[in-house]
Amino acid sequence: MNIEHVDICVGLAWGDEGKGKIVSELSKANEYDFVCRWSGGNNAGHTIYVNNKKYSTHLIPSGVFHGIKSIIGPGCVVNEKSFFEEIHYLQENGFDTNLIKISPKAHIVTSHHIEKDKQKYNKLLGTTARGIGPCYSHKYARKGTRVMNVKESFADFIWDEKLYGKVLCEGAQGFWLDVDYGNYPYVTSSNCLPYSACNLGFPPQKIRKIYGAVKIYDTRVGTDPDFPDDLLCNQELMTLATEGNEYGTTTNRLRNVNYLNLDKLISAIQISGTTDLIISKVDILEKTNIYRYYYQDDLHTCQTIDNMKQEIETILTSQNTLLDKIIFSSHPGKI
Ligand code: IMP
Ligand code: MG
Repeated sequence: MNIEHVDICVGLAWGDEGKGKIVSELSKANEYDFVCRWSGGNNAGHTIYVNNKKYSTHLIPSGVFHGIKSIIGPGCVVNEKSFFEEIHYLQENGFDTNLIKISPKAHIVTSHHIEKDKQKYNKLLGTTARGIGPCYSHKYARKGTRVMNVKESFADFIWDEKLYGKVLCEGAQGFWLDVDYGNYPYVTSSNCLPYSACNLGFPPQKIRKIYGAVKIYDTRVGTDPDFPDDLLCNQELMTLATEGNEYGTTTNRLRNVNYLNLDKLISAIQISGTTDLIISKVDILEKTNIYRYYYQDDLHTCQTIDNMKQEIETILTSQNTLLDKIIFSSHPGKI
């Protein structure tokens, strides 16, 4: 069967931009045949609401919550224990885990990788300590272990590596955590940009839409010397962090928070090829009455949320991008 088209949801910041919710809404509204992850492992964390109940996954794509085949692609890394914990969690909650398939080419995160990450890179780079970097090191040194090498435990989940119909790709992490585009070495060890989703096995010409996710203020979890560290001495930013409940889904660390950096967002939109931009958590600014953003390296202040939205829209639409739609959202659900 033919691949009809591929839509991609990508983070345009440092992760935690609400991709899980967007993918969940898209899955409900469109008749996708597949929802696929193309990179990373259980360093990610997705929070999804189904019938008003909150669910969290780290590795398994959120298509499973909507009865859609969910693929963990060849570019992903898999922690066996946490994979099966998620499978049991989904089963206990009544979801059909037969929909979950995993590429035989995906690499296995071993306890040795996790130990090394904990001992070294967590302290050095503020990683999530899930063994992701050491696993990718082994992969690229061509010394890794793949799912096909430990096939028995994954027997029920092996993917035949065929895509067809309508495909949705679910990004992990975000543009500024990409190993090539982020602030190296304070990055993750995989490619978060949409072009790398083609590693799932479709030609780039099949890409229809690129949904870019971003929050209306910036957050960063983990070490990054270039991310402004004013949080602890700026009451306004602390208010945003508290109101926005900015704690990591995977590590529960307090996220560093700053005003939206439009200069960075414009680059991310341009390079990713974002067609539909979803700017979320607008309600947090409304609650706190804080309306600021950086543009051309200056801090701009607005009087109302409507002014801020309008200014952002005017600036973004005057750039040379592929942007077609800008959606401001408070509780993603209407996109
Ligand atoms: P690693 O992916 O665990 O190696 O971590 C590398 C960097 O990416 C660290 O700064 C992490 O905090 C960050 N990171 C990795 N995954 C996520 C995520 O899903 N959300 C936010 N930050 C992440
Ligand atoms: Mg996340």
